[in-house]
Amino acid sequence: MTLDFHKNHRLLFGTVFGLFLALSGIIAVGPALWVQNNNRPLPDSRPLTDEEADGQQVYLSEGCVYCHTQQVRPIPQDTSRYGRASAPGDYARLGPRDLWRQTPSVLGTERTGPDLSAIGDRQPSDIWHHIHLYQPRAVVGASMMPSFPWLYETKAEAAPGDVVVPVPQSHGPDDGVVVAGPRARALVAYLLALKQAPLPGATSTVDPTGSTDASGEALGVRIYGARCASCHQAGGEGVPGVYPPLVDDPVVLADDPTRHVQIVLFGLSGETIQGTTYPTVMPGWAEQLSDEEVAAVVNHERRSWGHEAPTTTADDVARVRQGGPPDEQ
Ligand code: HEC
Ligand code: HEC
Repeated sequence: MTLDFHKNHRLLFGTVFGLFLALSGIIAVGPALWVQNNNRPLPDSRPLTDEEADGQQVYLSEGCVYCHTQQVRPIPQDTSRYGRASAPGDYARLGPRDLWRQTPSVLGTERTGPDLSAIGDRQPSDIWHHIHLYQPRAVVGASMMPSFPWLYETKAEAAPGDVVVPVPQSHGPDDGVVVAGPRARALVAYLLALKQAPLPGATSTVDPTGSTDASGEALGVRIYGARCASCHQAGGEGVPGVYPPLVDDPVVLADDPTRHVQIVLFGLSGETIQGTTYPTVMPGWAEQLSDEEVAAVVNHERRSWGHEAPTTTADDVARVRQGGPPDEQ
């Protein structure tokens, strides 16, 4: 039998069909099986709660995805700021919302604002997110992110159970209090759930490249910028009535850095600082920052803005960490 495709239709269709099956296997079925076997949710990740999943819908419908990505590229520009490089397993915890709606795509393609893959780690304060969503410029002076005031309500007085948003006077309404609506609460729950679970076998979630130098100075600058400046501001000046300044702050200038280290590790709330009681909370960073990183950022604050206060070491931070939060000692 010769390979006469012009006369032998069985041969023609058989060959074409065979090729079709082979290509389907290579292009579609094989990869789908691979994904099914290799794209499991990471061991330490958990599915979104109902509220967080609602928040994801708000995220999509308000168009956050047009300006924010959730994919960290494996290059230093990304990994030094946004977390480790993203892996397929990061997205595997997301599933279709129901039978009719497919798994929402949150990867994003354009990064007008920062990547949000690990924003729940980088900015763990719900109240900060509310202030920022209500009016980004209240906490990030030069921000060009749009504000989302329609997610909030202005009331004469807060009712019990309301999430009050302490918007700085300069950006808040003339009378009344700003209260987070249900969509804002869901959205912020979703943002706080954006964390990178460790990859199995990986030792650190932070990319070590360029993170340390002999004095830790560059590390301190980087951590301050990534973790502290959103509230205390780049120049340490704070936000009047909302976030305290660190410039000339008694804790930062104290000869003994122990309390400074304690506050950075375990957080602080309800304290009156130089006559002002702040309506917000300082998150603790014990889980996110290593001893070296805490020492570096504490020393950065003790050596910046004209400060010349005594510095601390990673060993001292380790001792304070072991001692636990002050009220449990
Ligand atoms: C037009 C583009 C744009 C849109 C739309 C937008 N953002 Fe942003 N976003 C930015 C820019 C620019 C910044 C950086 C300045 C700042 O922090 O305000 C930012 C910053 C942020 C940050 C802080 C990130 C960090 O690393 O500190 C969060 C959180 C955030 N946006 C969440 C959202 C959410 C949630 C939405 C949707 C409700 C949204 N953004 C919509 C542009 C945008
Ligand atoms: C979400 C906002 C927020 C972030 C982020 C934040 N802080 Fe704070 N910080 C506060 C608030 C609010 C207070 C005051 C708490 C109080 O009054 O009880 C505070 C207080 C402090 C104090 C104590 C000041 C005093 O006199 O008691 C230090 C020191 C400090 N922060 C350092 C840091 C460092 C270092 C970082 C970054 C690793 C950081 N903060 C990140 C909100 C924040």
